[in-house]
Amino acid sequence: SEHEKEIVQADKPKIIAHRGANDRFIEHTLTAYKIATEDGVNYLEIDLRMTKDGELVAMHDETIDRTTNGQGKVSDYTLKELKKFNTISTYNNKTISEEIPTLREILDSFSDTENFYIETRLVNGHVAMEKQVLELLQEYDLLHNNRVILQSFSMKSLEKISSIYPNIPLTLLFRKGEFDVDQAASTNYPIVGIESKDVTREVVKQLHKRGKEVHVYFTNRKSQKKEQKRMLEFGVDGYFTDYILYTKELVGDM
Ligand code: G3P
Ligand code: CA
Repeated sequence: SEHEKEIVQADKPKIIAHRGANDRFIEHTLTAYKIATEDGVNYLEIDLRMTKDGELVAMHDETIDRTTNGQGKVSDYTLKELKKFNTISTYNNKTISEEIPTLREILDSFSDTENFYIETRLVNGHVAMEKQVLELLQEYDLLHNNRVILQSFSMKSLEKISSIYPNIPLTLLFRKGEFDVDQAASTNYPIVGIESKDVTREVVKQLHKRGKEVHVYFTNRKSQKKEQKRMLEFGVDGYFTDYILYTKELVGDM
C-alpha cells in the first residue's frame, strides 16, 4: 500500500552529499552541489563561516587557503573582498573558476528542489550565526517537513537554535574519539553525528533504543568505502558521504 511504501522509504538511510559532490569537483561550490543534485541525494551538506561584515559563506576551513587561490581567514575579509578570490577545479575536462558561494546563493540555486543539512559553529568562541541562518531559512520557506537539518559540534550553537526555533531537526556532532553514548542519549537532539571509527553495532543499537537517529561522517577518505560497507548492516540512518554514487549503490538506489 501507499502507507507501507512510505515507511520503507523512511527507513532508508539518508544520503547526505558531504560538501557537495567533492569527489568530482572542489567542495562547497555551486558546481559541486549541482553535481550532487544530478546524482540525486537526500541532503546537501553545507559548512558555514562568517565574514568580517557578518555574511554567511560556505567554507569548511577557517582559512580559504586550501580551496581557493587566496589566503587568510574568512573572518578577516568582508564579503566583497572574499568574492575576489576563486576556487579552481575541472569538470568534464573543462576548467571552471568560481566565487565562494554565500548561503543565500546556494538557497537561490537549489531551494526549489533540494534539502539542506547545514552545520553551524561558534564564531571566535561566540554564538553569532544562528539567528541569521534561521531567518534565511524562514525567508526561503524551508522550516518545515525536514527540508533542513541543522548540525553542530557546539551545544551552545544548538541551544541557541532551539531557543529561537524549537521545531527544526538538530544533530549533535561528536568529534572522532569523543563519542559518548550517555551524553548523546541524555540530550533532546533527535540525531547524533558520529565519526565512522566510533561506530559499532552496539553504539547504533543503544542509540536506536534511546530513540536517536545515527548519522555517520568520515575523516579518512581512504578507508571510507570500506567503512560504509562495514556499517551498512548496523542500520545507520544517514551517511555524510564523499562518494555519493558508491553510497547510493551500497544502500540500494532511491
Ligand atoms: O558535518 C558532518 C561532518 O562534516 C563533520 O566533519 O569536519 O567535515 O565538518 P567536518
Ligand atoms: Ca560539516
